[in-house]
Amino acid sequence: MHEPVLLPEVIASLKPEPNHFLIDGTVGLGGHAEGFLARVLPGGRLLGIDRDADNLERARERLSGFGESVVLVQDSYANVKAHAYAHGFHHVNAVLLDLGFSSVHVDDPSRGFSFTHDGPLDMRYDRSQALTAERIVNTWLVDELARIFRQFGEETRARQAAEAIDACRGLARIQTTRQLVACLERVLPRQGKAHGATRVFQALRIAVNDELGQLERALPDFVDLLVPGGRIAIISFHSLEDRLVKRFLKSRMDLRLVNKRVITPSQEEVRKNPRARSAKLRVAEKL
Ligand SMILES: C[S@@+](CC[C@H](N)C(=O)[O-])C[C@H]1O[C@@H](n2cnc3c(N)ncnc32)[C@H](O)[C@@H]1O
Repeated sequence: MHEPVLLPEVIASLKPEPNHFLIDGTVGLGGHAEGFLARVLPGGRLLGIDRDADNLERARERLSGFGESVVLVQDSYANVKAHAYAHGFHHVNAVLLDLGFSSVHVDDPSRGFSFTHDGPLDMRYDRSQALTAERIVNTWLVDELARIFRQFGEETRARQAAEAIDACRGLARIQTTRQLVACLERVLPRQGKAHGATRVFQALRIAVNDELGQLERALPDFVDLLVPGGRIAIISFHSLEDRLVKRFLKSRMDLRLVNKRVITPSQEEVRKNPRARSAKLRVAEKL
């Protein structure tokens, strides 16, 4: 089961109250949303967005008891303004972005996110999208592969990894996660606990879903939607996202950082939910 990460900290930061209008840009399985909705009734509403149709269906079931107070939309949060205006969310009290993938994505081999399970090289959140990890791995130039492994994976052996993939695909199309791991094994050996392919998988996921681009484009729109005193909370799971978020929040003259230091999960939470391990929460208030 997917446990919402940093839930008490997010609630304490966003302070949902009756009559509040909230946007959860990555509603996922609805864990955080459920916590919010219980607090914004009566009078409040929540707009939940997710790119993944299966996750959104799970959220729909979980939140069905809240009736008209919830609106769920399948799309990227990059299009938040259009959906917010269409559903009457012009003045928003709080926004949450809980970035990246959910445990369902990693646990389902058919989604191709995990290097520990064999599955098709997919990695799309939105399965109606044309670009997959399989297409990137088999058709992008070595230079392009090396660039994304370096930029999105911070992989120091990016070129070697790209060249190893190029050698493999010259023999046969790389179609599964296991085939990709086998191609990379020689150049990216395991380092302690970390699997050698970790960074390449992260880079492919970010590239397939344009994760950093979507985030960069959406953040100003979320802030525009907030009322003065409204808050935005963002949970990121790797340093590239966290750096982008930190820089953005600091750059805006109309935002005040609520916490000087980033909020991280307690040891207790990490013990119960290892996925929370790398979570970082930043919160800002609109002036
Ligand atoms: C960590 S999960 C969210 C879990 C959720 N907070 C909960 O409590 O169940 C992240 C979700 O964001 C979705 N996602 C990733 N990128 C997205 C984007 N650009 N727009 C909308 N949803 C996105 C994924 O499909 C995934 O369901």
